Amino acid sequence: QPESEVRESEFLFLPVTNLGAELRWNQIRVFSSWLDKWIPRKKPLVAQKKPIKVFLKAGKTYKWCVCGRSKNQPFCDASHLFQATGLFPLRFKVEEDRSAFLCACKATSKPPYCDGTHKSNRVQNAQEGSSL
Ligand code: FES
Repeated sequence: QPESEVRESEFLFLPVTNLGAELRWNQIRVFSSWLDKWIPRKKPLVAQKKPIKVFLKAGKTYKWCVCGRSKNQPFCDASHLFQATGLFPLRFKVEEDRSAFLCACKATSKPPYCDGTHKSNRVQNAQEGSSL
């Protein structure tokens, strides 16, 4: 569950420790491009233009919403399925209990973590709930 929303001044860059998540992200991309031939893939929507701070428990599997349609941001609520997006959530775990800022603009290059992309004009000029 989101602990609280993060204010711009509280923003912190996280060290890149999500190698497992990156590998799975690559797998999803390969699988998605194969799937695209059969099911048209919709674009992710900007759920919100700032990251969401969450507390993550070690060893627990989380599903980060990729499609931006979940009502339980930043986590998946299966909307990707019901809205036939052709997108899938990113499963990830952390090795120790910690807080993290998870991406909610869905434009990060370090999913599921915020990499600061939400500060770009591309995201800030977009409407929440629409695609980039
Ligand atoms: S609801 Fe967005 S990926 Fe599942």
